Amino acid sequence: MYYRDTYAKIDCDAIAHNLSLLKKKTSHALIAVLKANAYGHNDYWAAKTAIESGCCMVAVSSLDEALALRRQGFYDQILILGHIRPKDISIAIEHRVSVSVISSEWLKEVVALHPNLKHLIFHIKVDTGMNRIGLRNIGEVVEAVDLIQRHHGIAEGIFTHYACADSDSKEMCERQFDKFKQIVTSCNYPFKWIHAENSAAILTYEDTLTNAARCGLVMYGISPVATDLDLKPALSLISHLTCVKKIKKGEHVGYGATYQADEDCFIGTLPIGYADGFLRANQGRFLYCENEWVEVVGRVCMDQCMVRLPHFFPAGTPVEIISSHCPICEMAEDLHTIPYEILCILSDRIPRKIYYHQQEVAVINNRLHEF
Ligand SMILES: Cc1ncc(COP(=O)(O)O)c(C=O)c1O
Repeated sequence: MYYRDTYAKIDCDAIAHNLSLLKKKTSHALIAVLKANAYGHNDYWAAKTAIESGCCMVAVSSLDEALALRRQGFYDQILILGHIRPKDISIAIEHRVSVSVISSEWLKEVVALHPNLKHLIFHIKVDTGMNRIGLRNIGEVVEAVDLIQRHHGIAEGIFTHYACADSDSKEMCERQFDKFKQIVTSCNYPFKWIHAENSAAILTYEDTLTNAARCGLVMYGISPVATDLDLKPALSLISHLTCVKKIKKGEHVGYGATYQADEDCFIGTLPIGYADGFLRANQGRFLYCENEWVEVVGRVCMDQCMVRLPHFFPAGTPVEIISSHCPICEMAEDLHTIPYEILCILSDRIPRKIYYHQQEVAVINNRLHEF
């Protein structure tokens, strides 16, 4: 249920379509990256769609995100790509959540606290140049595999992450790949999964070593690089006019009275604001309202914003904020950011209407789900 006329429409069929395109594009198995509530799309439905589309596992950023999926009834393999506190490893074991080895010190602390890892699955992260997390040389990797095995864990995977896969120059990717290949081949261990590519690398940099790829943005239908794939964006953001009024030439709109009407005109109010992730920098943005463009005028408020209408529209008229008419990449460019950030900041005040197999199957309103 939801009680405010703003929602995000999540099209799981679009996610399935994008994954099917990726499966044709790469020979690698796909790991669906579902960090940050599946980039704002809803983790559970994205996970379900990913597994049904043939992904070999899903990946999240933290134990919290993994447990959120388990609580919603997702029982397939989940890999945590980021840090988990060593003292919380027993929770990962209990819920069968795979974890990443982020440093040698981290792993030593883990085995000191949990000498029996009870078949916990590990993927070893190798830092090949990003300088974020990961082991840094062959000696550390060999020692990690040995420690995991001695303590009854499973060293299932090894992976790295490219820093510049979306750049035109492939120099950094090549340097990172060479380092990764050298480490993986010289430790001569039969890892089940070897993965490095993210969305941009899947589209532009196929390698000969890895057998899985981690797809995030592109599975949601947005590409970080130019591509001829017929991707379908899975999220659209819709609001509805709540209040429409005629103002006179010279009247102002919104906080700071930053907009002054140059003639008599119609102003509509939308129930979305910066607390929803619709940033103040959207002042001046054009939105799509029944085949016409309406401009966000005056400052975007916390919960509402105002648009100038070309003529009268009744309250209740839908206004597209992100859609095929208002692509997220254009919004990102105008706001000097990336589509990832626009998606992730859409707050949980915005209910997600889930469409799956062409039907509306759920409305997820995290603000109300406890009641
Ligand atoms: C380690 C790791 N792998 C894969 C991804 C997915 O990246 P993308 O959304 O560009 O596919 C991310 C995203 O930030 C990541 O941190």
